[in-house]
Amino acid sequence: MTQTLTIRRPDDWHLHLRDGAVLEAVLPETARHFARAIIMPNLVPPVVTGAQAAAYRDRILAALPEGMAFEPLMTLYLTEDTDPADVAAAHASGLVKALKLYPAGATTNSASGVTDFDKVRPVLEKMAEIGLPLCVHGEVTDHDIDIFDREAVFIDRVLDPIRRATPGLRVVMEHITTSDGVDYVKSNNADLGATITTHHLIINRNHILVGGIKPHYYCLPVAKRESHRLALRAAATSGDARFFLGTDSAPHTDPNKESACGCAGCFTATNTMSCLAEVFEEEGALDRLEGFAALNGPAFYRLPANEATITLTRGDAVTYPDKIETGDGPVTVFDPGFPLHWSVSA
Ligand code: DOR
Ligand code: ZN
Repeated sequence: MTQTLTIRRPDDWHLHLRDGAVLEAVLPETARHFARAIIMPNLVPPVVTGAQAAAYRDRILAALPEGMAFEPLMTLYLTEDTDPADVAAAHASGLVKALKLYPAGATTNSASGVTDFDKVRPVLEKMAEIGLPLCVHGEVTDHDIDIFDREAVFIDRVLDPIRRATPGLRVVMEHITTSDGVDYVKSNNADLGATITTHHLIINRNHILVGGIKPHYYCLPVAKRESHRLALRAAATSGDARFFLGTDSAPHTDPNKESACGCAGCFTATNTMSCLAEVFEEEGALDRLEGFAALNGPAFYRLPANEATITLTRGDAVTYPDKIETGDGPVTVFDPGFPLHWSVSA
């Protein structure tokens, strides 16, 4: 008997679409299965004002192929110069759904991020007042902190103090990669949520480094040891509504990945739902996939869940292209390292 699973159409609560030729090529990969996505603002230059977010939203919608439905949920990149009044206006108009905090230098295109957290205090207070979520790239950038410890140290030194100083601030810890992140979310109230990526449920640091360096598995925060991957799997499949899908699908062209100084990012938009079905099946939690991918995120963002559905069907094997061609060069699709059996239809 064919096994099928129909769930509400999922959303991606953390997505990089880029701009120009890459945007055009990768947008259909997400819109094929997802209804909405929180769009990351780390363009060059970054999306820092409401006007820039409106213009970027227009470029995304213009790149959407005829007949595809997709709603980009816009974010602003928080800088030390962000104006609380601009943020409030962009939120009130319905345009902006979150602000993104990058510690300066933490990851791709984060040079305009925050160094002095006192300087963003007025914006954070305004956000707490209006209920606008802060999406956080949770890694310290201090050179003396080991890259594998940067998430745990960020929680202690930055995130917890910010949250204590700003009661009511709603925070999404983006792409958590450690049991420390899982535990921190679990020990707090519903003002704190976390996204988990597809790839962090599948790879640990051995996948990147054993048997030759695998640049397409390199992302930030970098995948950690196996015990952390298992903690993420347990959280994602637990049914706890504070954990939801944010793929962090982050296209870089192959020459930029396969380089002496390769860019961080895994491109998972194309096969994420098939990968997740495999993960949730392995964990005996297929009945919780809808919560993780389609219900918990809207609940956190105080948006309705989608009415449309997708159907996952288990069959012999599903294949996806190895690469997506873009006007700037090929982008390699994430290889989960195991066969996929769940196909997706709308
Ligand atoms: O791996 C990543 N890629 N992590 C990030 O935080 C940024 C992203 C990108 O923009 O490429
Ligand atoms: Zn990201």
